[in-house]
Amino acid sequence: MSNPLIDLAVIGGSGLYKFPGLENVERRAVETPWGDASGEVVIGDFAGRRVAFLARHGESHSLPPHRVNYRANLWALHGLGVRTVIGVNAVGGIRTDMGPRAVVVPDQLIDYTHGRYTSFCDAEGAEVKHIDFSEPYTASVRYRLLQAARKAGIAVIDGGCYGATQGPRLETRAEIARMKRDGCDLVGMTGMPEAALARELGLDYACLALVANYAAGCGDEDEISIEEIFAHLAAATAEVPRLLEAMLR
Ligand code: HPA
Repeated sequence: MSNPLIDLAVIGGSGLYKFPGLENVERRAVETPWGDASGEVVIGDFAGRRVAFLARHGESHSLPPHRVNYRANLWALHGLGVRTVIGVNAVGGIRTDMGPRAVVVPDQLIDYTHGRYTSFCDAEGAEVKHIDFSEPYTASVRYRLLQAARKAGIAVIDGGCYGATQGPRLETRAEIARMKRDGCDLVGMTGMPEAALARELGLDYACLALVANYAAGCGDEDEISIEEIFAHLAAATAEVPRLLEAMLR
């Protein structure tokens, strides 16, 4: 089942349900011991490479962040022979320079989620692994993303701390104020446990965060509008294929 020919996998977040420009596509439904992945893995040619794509929320966005089967998703990609994964995540910006449409490659994270399956060390008799997670993202993949953005002329912010919240609701102003005090620069609902599970499987993993809105209390608005979130996301998402093309060529 292993497919050493897959150069990169992309897990698409809100606003990225299909990977534009994939050619010679095959779709793979992968069985996993953890249940069903968010959908079929779509594998195709892109920028002269073989790229796998999985829509984290399903292709019709039917899975909220706390219902995504992160274990099945990572297991499926690993089983197909994937070794490098980029998680594309919609986020809210906490730091002033991380406003709507900003593209960020974070270098740290804090996990505020709860009640999610966070490890593969759950099965009866499984080896207990205490992975090192001091640096939650793989430096070489972060570097490739940053270099690619520069090559493609896409403004990108290098570094930042991603705070992973439970969702699906957005946060209160007080929660964001606390996260800011904690050192978070961005807030999103899907960054964890994905990053930790990737590390458990030995996958190289980095996050490409697309800012959809200022987080609660960080912008001028009294309320965050979902229409605006999706409009900003669509604009930021439109840059992703060009960025990944620069990374792969
Ligand atoms: N909070 C959490 N997740 C998000 C946000 C937000 O403000 N915007 C996009 N994803």
